[in-house]
Amino acid sequence: MSDSERDAGGVVVFDHPLIRHKMTYLRDVETGHRPFRAILTQIAGLMVYEVTRSFETEPVEVETPMGRTSGHRLVGAVTVVPVLRAGLGMISGVLDIMPEARVGHLGLARDEKTLEPKAYLNKLPSDLDAGPVVLVDPMLATGGSASAACAMLREAGAKDLRMICLVAAPEGVTRMRADHPGVTVYTAALDERLNEQGYIMPGLGDAGDRLYGTV
Ligand code: PRP
Ligand code: URA
Repeated sequence: MSDSERDAGGVVVFDHPLIRHKMTYLRDVETGHRPFRAILTQIAGLMVYEVTRSFETEPVEVETPMGRTSGHRLVGAVTVVPVLRAGLGMISGVLDIMPEARVGHLGLARDEKTLEPKAYLNKLPSDLDAGPVVLVDPMLATGGSASAACAMLREAGAKDLRMICLVAAPEGVTRMRADHPGVTVYTAALDERLNEQGYIMPGLGDAGDRLYGTV
């Protein structure tokens, strides 16, 4: 994907052998919640490197044991926001790489019949405009949850916003481009379609259930 498409708020699909390799374990119906959790954490960590590429830095002076030189520091306070439940499964991987990040929480549950998200938790820092905000949810299906989450983050002041997911459906990507064109979506896989129940095909099933062993 070209830089201009990213700037327009597009989708970045990771094309990395390690991520493809690990994604195959996550998709496998035989993978239980313990390895699922571990692999999800690993993929989230790998994705952070690319997702943070556009973060702003400022020059600073630093004293090494050998003398003075110039370095860089991130500008502002980074906030990562998992969408409960499944988004929590990616948080430790993100924080391993960005331990200084603050963590906000959004709770959204998709109604099984209408597929509409219902918000049940909103705990965010009061100054979300203090730096980049990274929304984290492994599944982008209809896009209803991600769109609602972005609206809640905008309402709370988020200006510099992007999303990390694991598997995206074309329907979810289209919804995000329509509702939040300024939000780049980073995904480990772009799948074929949704089924009649709103599940991603071939996907990996219900991410929250697989993560917590509630299948
Ligand atoms: C899943 C997933 C997303 C949402 C995606 O959560 O983690 O939040 O569905 O679907 P959408 O794009 O059609 O809105 P779910 O509502 O199942 O809750 P859970 O994480 O608690 O299982
Ligand atoms: N939520 C999930 O956990 N999986 C899907 O395939 C769709 C929504």
